[in-house]
Amino acid sequence: MKPLVIAIDGYSSCGKSTTAKAVAAALHYAYVDTGAMYRGVTLYLLEAGIAFDDMAAIEQALHDIHISFKRHRTTGRNELCLNGKIREDDIRQMRISNLVSEVSGIPMVRHAMVAQQQRMGRKRGVVMDGRDIGTTVFPDAEVKVFMTAEVEIRARRRQEELAAKGEHVELVDIIENLRKRDYLDSTRTESPLRRAADAVLLDTTHITISEQVDFVLDRASSALFAT
Ligand code: DC
Repeated sequence: MKPLVIAIDGYSSCGKSTTAKAVAAALHYAYVDTGAMYRGVTLYLLEAGIAFDDMAAIEQALHDIHISFKRHRTTGRNELCLNGKIREDDIRQMRISNLVSEVSGIPMVRHAMVAQQQRMGRKRGVVMDGRDIGTTVFPDAEVKVFMTAEVEIRARRRQEELAAKGEHVELVDIIENLRKRDYLDSTRTESPLRRAADAVLLDTTHITISEQVDFVLDRASSALFAT
């Protein structure tokens, strides 16, 4: 059976990565969290003191930025490595969440990340989550899911995730961040967040994680038997 590309796109904090990770584990596929890559670039630019409108410095930085993923030996967690160093916790902080959509809207940054994502998935057998996987990165993905959920529910889930890592953030601030990111992600000129015509909609407001995972696995098995 030909391995599939499974593209999971959608709004921020809908449960895309939780779902994608579980689907990848069930199918023994690779998992690529493309949002983590944009977060990694944001962290690098911040630490290097590069302004987000300094295109010459960003162009140079993109040559110096090496992003990869490493599987944690005991937890199995997929961790982002920036220039060889694990930076998973750093890229999840609110200061990065507040700036990442600005960086991910820069066309030069998108071109570099999309090219790397296409290389990562060239052998197929991959679950990739993001905003433009089904539209730009892998328009030929066999399974395309577009996830959405009510913003209050998404914010509560995000607040719990941050609290588990010891970061307390007010719900109103998370809601504002999610709304702002959704707006910036949907209105940018370069590969904006939008549902591909052939993507199936999955609203996670009232369903459990295992129902989300089963939904995608059902789609995957239909696609596998169709190939
Ligand atoms: O999935 P996430 O919240 O970690 O993504 C962080 C940001 O990166 C999000 O606000 C939009 C951007 N992003 C993007 O523009 N394209 C992708 N394929 C993935 C994420």
